[in-house]
Amino acid sequence: MLKIAPSILSADFARLGEEIRSIETADYLHFDVMDGLFVPNISIGIPVLQSVRKITDMVLDVHLMITDPLRYVSDFLSAGADILVFHIESQAPDKTYETIRRVRAQGARVGLSLRPKTPWDILLPYLDELDLVLVMTVEPGFGGQAFMEDQLPKIAALRREIDRRGLKCELEVDGGINPDTARLCVEAGADVLVAGSAVFKAPDRAAMIASLRRAGEGSR
Ligand code: DX5
Ligand code: ZN
Repeated sequence: MLKIAPSILSADFARLGEEIRSIETADYLHFDVMDGLFVPNISIGIPVLQSVRKITDMVLDVHLMITDPLRYVSDFLSAGADILVFHIESQAPDKTYETIRRVRAQGARVGLSLRPKTPWDILLPYLDELDLVLVMTVEPGFGGQAFMEDQLPKIAALRREIDRRGLKCELEVDGGINPDTARLCVEAGADVLVAGSAVFKAPDRAAMIASLRRAGEGSR
């Protein structure tokens, strides 16, 4: 079943508790962490994650857009991350393997993410070890950007490879998702959709979550 993951990057942080309650019909809560180095923006981090963990049972899908994520694995997992996703471009391959190993050893799910310019087949050696792959359909760093259609073949290629190997790995897409682009992503094989501005700018969040779900389900 298609999963929807609202990104709280587009929420009103002064009213974060209420904002989270307004999206609880979704499947995952997407939590974007930016360090001002890996991406040219700074967002939220460990203390906010701890507070969010206390007020919701939603699955916390933490997207690390930070340099050298290995340094922070334990901190984010103790703060309450259920899924820890980091970028393949953010550190050397030996550290990538070590990060995957540590997340799994602590009993959480692990994912790797790709910037738009990164080819999908860089993931081939890691795929069997992953619970999730995150394809960025905007340059990471900011909410509210336009969806990059040229990433659709990458989603399709990953879908084929995941199915060919018979893996349970989820295929998540992030950036510029609205009901129209949701349909394209699901047609290409995505099974988790992140949406920030589409959900949080909607007057009725539950209705927008339902409409993303319908847009995707309709195209299966
Ligand atoms: C961007 C973040 C996204 C962002 C998506 O770097 O990873 O999760 O919040 O926002 P929208 O849905 O507005 O493109
Ligand atoms: Zn994200």
